Amino acid sequence: MLGDVHGNLPALKAVYSSIESSRVNQVICLGDLAFKGPQPGECVSFIRRMSIPVLSGNADEELCSVYKRGSSNSYADRPTPASIPYYHWHIDRMTRDDIKYLSALPGCYVQTENGSVLRFSHCAPPETGQDGTAIIYGHTHVPSVMQRGHVLAANPGAVGFSLDRDWRASYLTLDTKRMQAEITRVEYEVEETIQAARDAGFCFDVDWYVSALRSGWWEPVPWDIRARAIDHYPSKARRS
Ligand SMILES: [Fe+2]
Repeated sequence: MLGDVHGNLPALKAVYSSIESSRVNQVICLGDLAFKGPQPGECVSFIRRMSIPVLSGNADEELCSVYKRGSSNSYADRPTPASIPYYHWHIDRMTRDDIKYLSALPGCYVQTENGSVLRFSHCAPPETGQDGTAIIYGHTHVPSVMQRGHVLAANPGAVGFSLDRDWRASYLTLDTKRMQAEITRVEYEVEETIQAARDAGFCFDVDWYVSALRSGWWEPVPWDIRARAIDHYPSKARRS
């Protein structure tokens, strides 16, 4: 299982290469493919070529929601109005077909194997452990494996944007016979991602992004302060 790619193509390629060499039977992606990285369209294309089950993440949903509403000012609290230009920066680097693909992704995926119910979703279900033998979820960008009674709850961490102070990409392998999960960390060419961000004129402050990628952590910054970083691409980013 992999997830939280966040537009980081070098990290995605490195993880996929590692997964391929580990001879797993099935790959599932837990969503958040495009937003908050310099290569959103490239990551969606790469995942589509993998032909695997992909779930919708909150960032995917918000991006599609912004696309559908265009320049409308009718935004509620999510996404916040100050964040809208950032979504448009990503939308402008994706095809209409990419957005259509993201819009059609399901919220969860359930599979039964060897009598076990495996439940996959982007966010952890509110009542974790009540309806599955294994609950696999992403969203936190922090890898974890926990046994809660008879239920295994596991999170692969993030491919493209780690938040556990380890810069490496992360994925999870599930042994469905023993019902055991294992986290694998993968080094990738982070300098390639940084260069892609510089080349693309990334909407987020590149120094902030570089620091976050290299440290595996980012200090949350209010959207209205981050907005200073995008002054150089004003109206162009607002699709009507
Ligand atoms: Fe995410």
